Amino acid sequence: MHNPDGRSVIVTGAGRGIGAAMAKGIAEAGGRLTIADIDAGSAEAVAEEIRAAGGTAIGVQADVTDRAATRAMIAAAVEAHGRLDVIFNNAGIAQTRPFLSITEADWRRVMDVNGLGVLIGMQEAIEQFRKQGKDARGFGGRIVNTASIAGKQGYEPLAHYSASKFAVVALTQAAARAFGGDGISANCVCPGVVATDMWKLIDKGFKDEGLTGRDGEAFETFSQGILLGRPSASEDLVGVAVFLASPASDYMTGQSLVVDGGMVFV
Ligand SMILES: NC(=O)c1ccc[n+]([C@@H]2O[C@H](COP(=O)([O-])OP(=O)(O)OC[C@H]3O[C@@H](n4cnc5c(N)ncnc54)[C@H](O)[C@@H]3O)[C@@H](O)[C@H]2O)c1
Repeated sequence: MHNPDGRSVIVTGAGRGIGAAMAKGIAEAGGRLTIADIDAGSAEAVAEEIRAAGGTAIGVQADVTDRAATRAMIAAAVEAHGRLDVIFNNAGIAQTRPFLSITEADWRRVMDVNGLGVLIGMQEAIEQFRKQGKDARGFGGRIVNTASIAGKQGYEPLAHYSASKFAVVALTQAAARAFGGDGISANCVCPGVVATDMWKLIDKGFKDEGLTGRDGEAFETFSQGILLGRPSASEDLVGVAVFLASPASDYMTGQSLVVDGGMVFV
């Protein structure tokens, strides 16, 4: 009940960072994984790591903004594991850009991956879930999207990123309302400040924009005041990911779980 035993779970953007940690944790708890990433090599490397540890996983190259690639990713999961139970739409990108400098191209790029990519992942998974139907317990499939504390508050100089994460929360809530009758639930996870390559990029952006004077300064500033006294590691998101992949959370839908060490109360 408290493990995703045997569930077929896709995690996008799982070649590194939060997605890789979530995928490895779910595999350790008994899930059968499809590791998807735009970077084929890192997807396969994480899948291999899971297999070497005795778990079940395949690696798939997929750009989440590409509908055909997303369909192929789901088909690969179904071929390998017989069905799809849970999709984690986790792939995302960030960009540091002061509010008045955000260009149309910046907006489209960030919204494309973080907004449209999540919409496509949800749509294609729901088509698959509906083909499979509900099981005896009424479970019809599950969507878990990675939003952010930036999906709960607007942050500067990350306004377009924040807008894209508010979009993730909205898509989650709308799908929960639309597909509950099919037994399909949709929830999201909102991480805080997580030490990954993404934050290195955000931090470098602050420096490049002249907003900070040295490497690590923005990361440290954003981490100040976290109630539990430290920034997050990707592993801090594993518990909630295993929970959301497991039957233990099957009666939850439309929710955003903030896992940020105490930054944003919603
Ligand atoms: N790091 C943080 O502090 C933080 C906080 C809140 C939310 N998040 C969100 O968590 C998720 C993961 O972030 P992370 O910190 O692990 O980032 P990361 O940059 O370390 O990893 C992201 C992964 O997604 C992949 N990816 C990027 N674009 C893709 C695409 N179009 N299709 C498929 N894969 C793609 C990358 O290759 C990479 O492996 C993102 O949605 C991010 O917005 C991160």
